[in-house]
Parts: sequence; C-alpha cells; structure tokens
Amino acid sequence: MVIPPIKKLIVGITGGIAAYKAAELARLLTRRGVDTQVVMTEAARHFITPVTLQALSGKPVLTDLWDDRSGNGMTHIEIARDADAILIVPASADFLAKLAHGMADDLLTNICLARSCPLLVAPAMNVRMWENPATQRNIAQLRRDGVIVLGPDDGAQACGDIGAGRMTEPETLLEMLEASQQPKLLHGKKVLLTAGPTFEALDAVRGITNLSSGKMGYALARAALEMGAEVTLVSGRVALEPPRGANVIPVTSAREMLDGVMENLKGCDIFIGVAAVADYRARNPNKQKIKKNAKTLTLELVPNPDILARVAALPKPPFCVGFAAESENLREYAEQKRRRKKLPLLAANLIQDALGGDDSELILLDDNGAHPLPRAPKLVLARQLLAHVAHMLKKPSRKKS
Ligand code: C5P
Repeated sequence: MVIPPIKKLIVGITGGIAAYKAAELARLLTRRGVDTQVVMTEAARHFITPVTLQALSGKPVLTDLWDDRSGNGMTHIEIARDADAILIVPASADFLAKLAHGMADDLLTNICLARSCPLLVAPAMNVRMWENPATQRNIAQLRRDGVIVLGPDDGAQACGDIGAGRMTEPETLLEMLEASQQPKLLHGKKVLLTAGPTFEALDAVRGITNLSSGKMGYALARAALEMGAEVTLVSGRVALEPPRGANVIPVTSAREMLDGVMENLKGCDIFIGVAAVADYRARNPNKQKIKKNAKTLTLELVPNPDILARVAALPKPPFCVGFAAESENLREYAEQKRRRKKLPLLAANLIQDALGGDDSELILLDDNGAHPLPRAPKLVLARQLLAHVAHMLKKPSRKKS
C-alpha cells in the first residue's frame, strides 16, 4: 500500500518564542509543493508577523474568526474540511490546555474542533511548564483523543533553562509528519537489520572493506519505525544520522556484526541483511603498521561468516530478507543466492543502479516470482519492500508447482 503524500496542510501557529521556527517550516513545505494554509492565534502575532508567513507560504494568513471577507462566515468548517492534516507549531501550554478541553474561542481552536483529519502538535515551552502535572494531564488526554504529539526535544531553552520543552526542529517535524501518514503494518513487530560496510583490519591503519553508503539499510530502518516496528540496526561505519528511535549497535568487522546480530535475535520477527559484508579477512592482522619495505606482500585471507545464511539456517528463524548487488545477470544470480541462503525474500539491484545514490530500483524475488520496484528514492523503495514483507507475513506464499 502506498500512501499519497500530504497535499493540503493547515499550519497553526500559537504564542511562543519558537514561532520563528514555523517560518522555516512554512518555507520547507512550500518548497516541497505542499499547499500550506497558515492560521495564527493572537498570541502568535506578538512573536512573528503574518506578513512573514504570507510571503513564505504564498497565501494570506488567517487570523480572525470574525473576518467578514469570508463568504458565509464558516471559514473554520471549510478549511478544516479540505485539509489532509493540521500541524500546530509551536503548540503553547495554553493552546494544548484548550485543545484538551475542546474549547473553541478563536479561529484556530475552532478549526481543530471541526476537523476530520489528523491533528499533530509540536509543543514548545519552558521545562517547568512542560513538566507541570496540568500540562502532562492535557498531553495524556490529547494522546488518548488520537492527537499525535511530536517532541518536544531536550536542550537549552530561550529562557536560559535546560530540559525538555524545546520545539523539534522543522526538518525533523517534516520527517515525523510523513512518518505519521504511513500505515502501521509492522505494529508490534521486532525488526533487526544489518547495514553499511564491514572493515577487516590488515594492520593498525589499513584494511579490507566494501563500498557501501548504508543508505538503503538506514532507509529500511526508518521505514520500519514509521510502520510501528521496534528496530535494532547493527551498523558498520557510515556517515549517516541514525533514524530517530532505532536501537543502533555500531560495529566494525564482520565478526562483530555477527555477534551484534546473534545477541539481538531474541524475539525478532524480521531479519534484513542489507550490509555489504567483506567476504574475507586477514588470518593474522598485524598489530603495528606494516612497513613499506617488502618488494611483494602476501596476505593470507580466511572467509568471514555469512551472517544472513546463519540466521536463515537457525531451527526457528525470523522472516529473513536478503539483498543482492550484482553487476550482471541480475535475476539469475540473485535467485541462485536466494535459494542457496534459503530466504523467503531477496531484493536485488544492479550495482551501477544503487551504489551510494539516493535513488535505486529493485527486483523483489520470492517463491511467487519477481516483483520489480521501479526507480525511486531509497525511502520509498524501503516502504514498498516492507509492505511486501508485511503482506507475506499475513499470507505465507505457496510455491508455484
Ligand atoms: O555478499 P552477498 O552477495 O552474498 O550478500 C547477499 C546477502 O547476504 C546480503 O543481504 C548480505 O547482507 C548478506 N551477507 C551476510 N554475511 C556475509 C555476506 C553476505 O549477511 N558474510
């Protein structure tokens, strides 16, 4: 199932110093082509002007419930009816209290009450205001009512205090907004992944490795989190931010990666081996740096354990997914690999299509044949692959005779 992206969003701004971040959010949304209708409370206008938000969203900002320019005086009903989601950014303590009690004393509270779409709030306030039992009660009530609470983050605050209450940054809010739209197909499932390259030391500074950015594995970890899974990511060395909410286990060599996997297999429902594991390692890596004085140098290499094959060969394995990067004969080599490693599902791609880039294309191979996924950002492919896994888990495929 592919969820269409949000097209129409209401961004509600309430009174708090973090209101300036709403300007950046409006800019990011407009850049992505989201039709953004900004609505500001009276308090918000003490912090930032509607003119700024109008320029960034490309639309007049709505502020007044009693604005007689709108036809039938039902602006709140009309715009709430059209929106795909409402995001309150920042959500002040006062506004959260009003929402929790169903109050409707200005345009934004009216819109929230009249909505039939998801409501997301990004709280921002002083740490003591956030921790106050009244605020916590209101947040708990809002969660029970189905409101999605994004953040707040921990850190230094405008008032000089340190703690929870900082508004989550606009880029992250956008990621969270997108995540909230994904179907929770993996709710309650435990997903374990390997990602990135392994590095096998030859001496104190040199080693054998594979080219791998880790982008596909990290995209899969993020997509699994979005779908409601508990995610553990055993990762080789990569230059990527780990997805928020993943339990990341950093490793270097294939044997460390194997240990990381085996230690986290308990209760695991799905194992996805995306890592580019080095096939061989040095039998006796040198502790010191090897000097450059030999005419020729012979390295003795021994094979590394095949992590995925070992997991798939366990008496009660989780649902195992493999990856195959090939430079030719993609389907044939990948299918051979799937059978050899006894995998229900394998995702195959051509090296030249996938390596290091943000986009790729995949062929999913299972007992029912091949399912091509056309070129798309890796996160989109990751969501499609996991939707396929969720489908297979629900309905185990039967071999074609
Ligand atoms: O390297 P190869 O093409 O055999 O990789 C296929 C799949 O097996 C990948 O999913 C990879 O992560 C996994 N693999 C592994 N341990 C290895 C080699 C590969 O888990 N030593």
